[in-house]
Amino acid sequence: MNTLLLSGGKDDILKAGEILARGGLVAIPTETVYGLAANALDGNAVRRIFEAKGRPMDNPLIVHIADFSDIKRFKLVSEIPEKAVKLAEKFWSGPLTIIMPKGESIPDEVSAGLDTVAVRFPSHKTAQEVIKAAGVPLAAPSANLSGSPSPTCAEHVMSDLNGRIDAVLDGGECKVGLESTVITLVTEPPGLLRPGGVTAEEIEEVIGKIEIDDAVLHQLKSGEKAASPGMKYKHYSPKAEVVLIVASDEDYINYVNERKGEGVAALCYDGDEKSLEVKALTLGEKNDYGEQAHELFKRLREVDELDGIKTVYARCPRPDGVGMAVYNRLIRAAGFEVIELEKL
Ligand code: TXA
Ligand code: MG
Repeated sequence: MNTLLLSGGKDDILKAGEILARGGLVAIPTETVYGLAANALDGNAVRRIFEAKGRPMDNPLIVHIADFSDIKRFKLVSEIPEKAVKLAEKFWSGPLTIIMPKGESIPDEVSAGLDTVAVRFPSHKTAQEVIKAAGVPLAAPSANLSGSPSPTCAEHVMSDLNGRIDAVLDGGECKVGLESTVITLVTEPPGLLRPGGVTAEEIEEVIGKIEIDDAVLHQLKSGEKAASPGMKYKHYSPKAEVVLIVASDEDYINYVNERKGEGVAALCYDGDEKSLEVKALTLGEKNDYGEQAHELFKRLREVDELDGIKTVYARCPRPDGVGMAVYNRLIRAAGFEVIELEKL
């Protein structure tokens, strides 16, 4: 299949809407990462998403809307919890996904057979316009091949999915750079299933106590069931082995330099590269978690372009605020391999 590369102009948005309305697949920009969209109400169209990505069928998809009223209009949920209204008032449109009891219009392909559905109202104007142009809500996982880092620009999407989908709509670089925060309102207290740009602390200010799911910061024990199926898969793993190093600036630099000549590279904070004697990719300022979130996936893709690198030693932010989201993605990229030279 020939994959069309569309720009964000008005005609192209209408074109994308047409392709989606007739059951096709279009990668679209959002403020978090690019999504691979299909008509969420059409099980056959949604099935093609799983084929194009090589995604396991038991991993459910997020349904994207362009207005809060779409939830009722398209019968996406069987009931809108009061806490959903509060969260929507505060954080929508934006990088927060809310899991609710699923409604009658949701095909099994979207919910992967669960009795819940994940709903998100993206703030990216192009995403909103495409949803409106399609005339239906859009199911969209991140627009990468299953297992590779989520795409934060149209080039990443093309490098993974060229020839496998109908079109890519280029909307430039994604602002947040990491996928949305996922919260479930089906349990009491509500559960944080995936950290993102909206932080646990911000959510608690609006709806009170929430529980951070075990899988957010720790590896699931074998046989343990994931509250969010996506959490159980190895993610974002570059070809080189990633190892997280928890250490002071000085100890980190010494640890890495002692291993130069062994095919190692560094994923580090701004400034570290001056003292490092190996190839260094920077994530941003040490205390700027937002910048680290923005850079992470791009850097993980760059790791794959490095020749002869076997191991990448990565610095690791504290798991609070947006740092929790960066930590969550990094620790998956590292297959949970952490070397602690100091306590986190
Ligand atoms: O920012 C985002 O959320 C991006 C953009 C495109 O919107 N989308 C995204 O989708 O990251 P995806 O499919 O890569 O991740 C969705 C996550 C998965 O971990 C999945 O298991 C979980 O949400 N999920 C979806 N529906 C669920 C449900 N009903 N119950 C529990 N987890 C669910
Ligand atoms: Mg994904």
